[in-house]
Amino acid sequence: MKSILVLSAAICAGASLLDIPEGHPLVNWRPAGPGDVRSPCPMLNALANHGILPHDGKNITEEQTINALKSTINLNEDLAKTQFEAALTTNPDPHATTYSLDDLCSHGILEHDASLSRQDYYFGDDHSFNQAVFDQTRSHWKGPFIDVEQAARARQARVDKSNATNPDFGLSKDALSLTYGESAAYIIVFGNKTSGVVNKSWVEYFFQFERLPIALGWTKNEDEITSSDQQTIAQKIMDASNKPAGE
Ligand code: HEM
Ligand SMILES: *[C@@H]1O[C@H](CO)[C@@H](O)[C@H](O)[C@H]1NC(C)=O
Ligand SMILES: *[C@@H]1O[C@H](CO)[C@@H](O)[C@H](O)[C@H]1NC(C)=O
Ligand SMILES: *[C@@H]1O[C@H](CO)[C@@H](O)[C@H](O)[C@H]1NC(C)=O
Ligand SMILES: *[C@@H]1O[C@H](CO)[C@@H](O)[C@H](O)[C@H]1NC(C)=O
Repeated sequence: MKSILVLSAAICAGASLLDIPEGHPLVNWRPAGPGDVRSPCPMLNALANHGILPHDGKNITEEQTINALKSTINLNEDLAKTQFEAALTTNPDPHATTYSLDDLCSHGILEHDASLSRQDYYFGDDHSFNQAVFDQTRSHWKGPFIDVEQAARARQARVDKSNATNPDFGLSKDALSLTYGESAAYIIVFGNKTSGVVNKSWVEYFFQFERLPIALGWTKNEDEITSSDQQTIAQKIMDASNKPAGE
């Protein structure tokens, strides 16, 4: 038994020397275990579950963030840098150069009310996947594909529900803008950033399991995803939200 453990440790150490080819299947997915920390962000959690970010979710560097987002979802380096800098502001240490996934849970820095798959801070756990909340969101995704209009309706329904039920409800200007950006994010990463249409089963699988939907046939976008792609789709979602129902 002991020698098997030693051998597998040696194999694991050796594996890091291999040059993993582009498109190699991500086989190392494992949910968080004891001592691992996770965030309210389904994407960062998924990357940690896959072991592309540190599996324990701790002390994540800028380089790790940029590399993970580039190699798995083809996110542009500037956009990843901006997001890393936002993440750093959630580390209670003002001189920190890394963040841990649980830093992102602090209510009112990046974490906000009316999430698509998490309950509001007022109700308790603001960071773990919540089935009831997510079921409300996905009830607005009617067909096999989610378009900008359905993304807008799902997002707005969560805002309205929180506004009606949470006595402490609030969304700052920045938080409002984050909510549009997050709805845009699942479209541009898993779908077509030009048409704004995404395969619903891939998005549901991603939220539900915090795992990239590779087993369902998703592959990373061939075109690099930029902040301007995100802004374009976020703007379309905002425009669709301001239209009366049925238009
Ligand atoms: C370093 C990069 C990133 C950071 C620091 C980050 C941080 C966060 C945080 C703090 C939240 C919680 C907001 C809330 O209260 O709902 C969040 C939500 C979210 N993030 Fe990320 N994120 C990053 C990258 C990404 C990427 C690349 C995607 C692409 C799909 C993504 C998708 C989402 C989605 C869809 C939500 C909304 C979850 C919900 O409303 O339930 N994130 N992110
Ligand atoms: C790693 O992060 C933890 C918080 O998750 C912090 O307490 C610790 O000081 C960090 N370690 C290093 C080496 O930065
Ligand atoms: C919340 O509801 C109030 C009262 O109906 C409304 O004035 C406000 O605009 C709503 N907030 C958001 C973010 O929708
Ligand atoms: C994305 O949608 C656009 C516009 O509808 C279309 O021209 C393009 O072929 C689609 N791209 C992919 C990769 O399917
Ligand atoms: C959508 O995802 C399902 C897997 O759940 C897959 O069978 C189907 O081919 C996908 N559709 C497209 C157009 O990629």
